[in-house]
Amino acid sequence: MVKKTSAEIREDFFEFFKNKQHIIVNSAPVVPQDDPTLLFTNAGMNQFKPIFLGEQEGYKNNDKVWKRAANTQRCIRVSGKHNDLEEVGHDTYHHTLFEMLGNWSFGDYFKEEAIEWGWELLTQVWGIDPERLYATVFAGDDEDGLPADEEAAEIWKSKTGIKPDHILKCGKKDNFWEMGEIGPCGPCSEVHIDLRPDEERKKQPGSELVNKDDPRVMEIWNLVFIQFNRKKNSSLVELPAQHVDTGMGFERIVAVLQGEKSNYDTDVFTPLIDEIGKLARISYGESERSDIAMRVIADHIRAVSFSVADGASPGNDGRGYVIRRILRRAVRYGWDTLGLKEPFMHKLVEVLAEQLKAVFPELIAQKAYVQNVIEAEEKGFIKTLGQGIELFQSMIAGKAILPGEDAFMLHDTFGFPIDLTSLMAREQGKEVDITHFDELMLEQKERARTSGKFEAVDSDQEEWTLVNKDDKGTEFVGYDHLEANVSVSAYRRSGKEAALVLDRTPFYAESGGQVGDTGIITSGGEHIRVLDVKKTNGRFIHYVDHLPENPEGTWEAVVDRERRREIQKNHTATHLLHAALREILGTHVGQKGSLVENERLRFDFSHYEALDTKTLDQIEELVNHKIQENIDLKEERNVPIKEAQRRGAMMLFGEKYGEKVRVITLDPSFSVELCGGTHVKATGEIGYFRIIAESSVAAGIRRVEAVTGKAADRYLREEKLLVEQLKSQVGTTDDPVSSLEKLISDKKTLEKELEKLRLQLATSALNNLVNSAESLPNNIKLIRGEVPGVSMNVLKQLGYESLRKSPEGTVTVLGSKDEQNNKVYLLAAVSDDVIGRGIKAGRLVGQLAKLVGGGGGGQSGLATAGGRRPEKLNEALEEAKKVCMEIE
Ligand code: SER
Repeated sequence: MVKKTSAEIREDFFEFFKNKQHIIVNSAPVVPQDDPTLLFTNAGMNQFKPIFLGEQEGYKNNDKVWKRAANTQRCIRVSGKHNDLEEVGHDTYHHTLFEMLGNWSFGDYFKEEAIEWGWELLTQVWGIDPERLYATVFAGDDEDGLPADEEAAEIWKSKTGIKPDHILKCGKKDNFWEMGEIGPCGPCSEVHIDLRPDEERKKQPGSELVNKDDPRVMEIWNLVFIQFNRKKNSSLVELPAQHVDTGMGFERIVAVLQGEKSNYDTDVFTPLIDEIGKLARISYGESERSDIAMRVIADHIRAVSFSVADGASPGNDGRGYVIRRILRRAVRYGWDTLGLKEPFMHKLVEVLAEQLKAVFPELIAQKAYVQNVIEAEEKGFIKTLGQGIELFQSMIAGKAILPGEDAFMLHDTFGFPIDLTSLMAREQGKEVDITHFDELMLEQKERARTSGKFEAVDSDQEEWTLVNKDDKGTEFVGYDHLEANVSVSAYRRSGKEAALVLDRTPFYAESGGQVGDTGIITSGGEHIRVLDVKKTNGRFIHYVDHLPENPEGTWEAVVDRERRREIQKNHTATHLLHAALREILGTHVGQKGSLVENERLRFDFSHYEALDTKTLDQIEELVNHKIQENIDLKEERNVPIKEAQRRGAMMLFGEKYGEKVRVITLDPSFSVELCGGTHVKATGEIGYFRIIAESSVAAGIRRVEAVTGKAADRYLREEKLLVEQLKSQVGTTDDPVSSLEKLISDKKTLEKELEKLRLQLATSALNNLVNSAESLPNNIKLIRGEVPGVSMNVLKQLGYESLRKSPEGTVTVLGSKDEQNNKVYLLAAVSDDVIGRGIKAGRLVGQLAKLVGGGGGGQSGLATAGGRRPEKLNEALEEAKKVCMEIE
């Protein structure tokens, strides 16, 4: 039989479900949209969560609501219950990023069809031997008060050809699927496959190995029967409808159908493995050690590339930190095991993008950007690796066992795996305290588990008091009106916070970077201030200063017009800025983040280097030209997405758009963007655009901050005042810059002269002291005294000078006071022969420093010290004499 390619297998799946009236939906980005409960998209059902929760009827496409859908979703699982990063690559069937083939019923078909179709696809379309398949069903759970899923067991028995002893009941851990801490969930039924040779299968039935982590008996498909919503207090609430959510591990089913034992031997991975082989001049299969490294790299490049393409980037916390860890793990394996000492990961993006361009075009579209971000991160890390090795050498020097803390630090800060550290230690005949290292790792895991979790946000409807029982969400009228008659559909007080949901509203709710509106809502003499507006599931939540006494009736909602106007200027200016950046820097510039407020705007975009003053000036100039052209803004609602794409509208990767979009055009040849925000009518309204800062946000991402409208006017006037002040200070109005330059250079010359004079003065003071040197009875010449107003440095120079002048039989002790700062400096210089007689400069000066409230020391020939009691200098000089007299 000809082996099917992975692309064909994916296509089979789509075809099968298309024939069962499913719509094939695109994969959502791996960086979740609008779901603060998730770090990464971890299942195909994530994008359908609102449908399962009953907040949306079904999947909307071209005005048609679909009750059945199927797709392949790119998912990342690197933490939590689903995966352990440290294991990936060591086995052959776990991945950081994997594709999940899924089919869904939104309140349409249920267990029967899900099971029958699953069986049909596996055994009839793909011809998998039923003898090798096992089905698990939920055994029930007392804590949740749930009975066993007899219904599913019965369907397996009567509607498929599976043998009764291949149906197994398992507990909550394996057969109750939950998206996370909260959210849609339900009992599930899994299909497992036994890939062992016939002989072994005869000896031990596969049923004994299901769910036992045996790589040859593994889960391939999970059929979840979604019926509940898990709430924050861990109770289960029955959902209004019953749904199906299935997920099949694509890489695993490809391995099964291609007859491979390892996912890495399938064409999902071989193009990457081959490329890694070329770069490292090694073949897969040469040794277990290099194979693991190749698998780690082939796996990790997929997770890293798609995370970056979908809008995340390596960083120090949250999602960014996870990406950084994955990338570093791969780089380190390449560096250590395959001898890849130069950045190499970015070179694999090309292969991956090509391979998946038909199914996930997002990567090829942003290939250059993704390569750059990865390369920058690799470079940084390789440098760190070098430092780590140096640190390792200094940590282990003189020790037989490297302490666990040190090994942990190498692991945590420099990404050194423990086996690398142990290997390096062994190379020197030494060991590592692995036990303590393991303890520290465990502690860290625990920390990561608790801090890595996003706070669970519950869409807790019971907290709201409904005023209007058939609340259907909020109609937004704020594109056309800033005032409207509205009614309150629901209200809530939680703690100090009061909030209202309105049936319709002119208030813009925070989204797309634009902040929410403020204003007031009034009725019958009652005024309620609106402080902020956010939206969730089609409802606009107005955060207010207090709740209405009586929410019934009609209210007048009025937006703060002035503030909204400034926000609009900033939003339209953001579009001009985006277009100007692409025109001046190049089309690799893509939006990576944006904040539009009334006072300023902030725009993050992909670009690899800092923008110099000249470039910033060009950008500012272009935007201001577009403002002066007073371009009419064209706003179109309900444009089919394909039409918008055809017109070259800028879309954000990682953003999920509906079928109909809103398009904002400012001259079709300059700026066309998909956008839900509010804008000025014509660019002239913006008045003036001024960049106030440029900085870096992350590897390959720059940030520009700017002001427009009234804020720009204020900014310019403040700047004018500043310039006026400067001019009057430098005393000239025509060329203050030259005057300032002259002032600065004069200052430098004067400082140099002053320094020279100070040294001259000090030298002559020293000469006086040398001339009045005391000859002590023990044949020591003591040069001592105060040198007024000199620094420690000058004092030191004088010390050398004194030794040069009197190289024999001398002790010099000098002091200088800085009374303003309450400091005193001391110096001692001792000629070699006197050192031999027992006076050491370091010790002497240390002893004297105690008297002036300080400390210090140094070499035996020359040493300095400082103190905080200048008034004690004379005492110190007296003490010097005593010390000198004491020796023979
Ligand atoms: N949501 C289920 C899973 O991820 C089935 O798609 O396993």
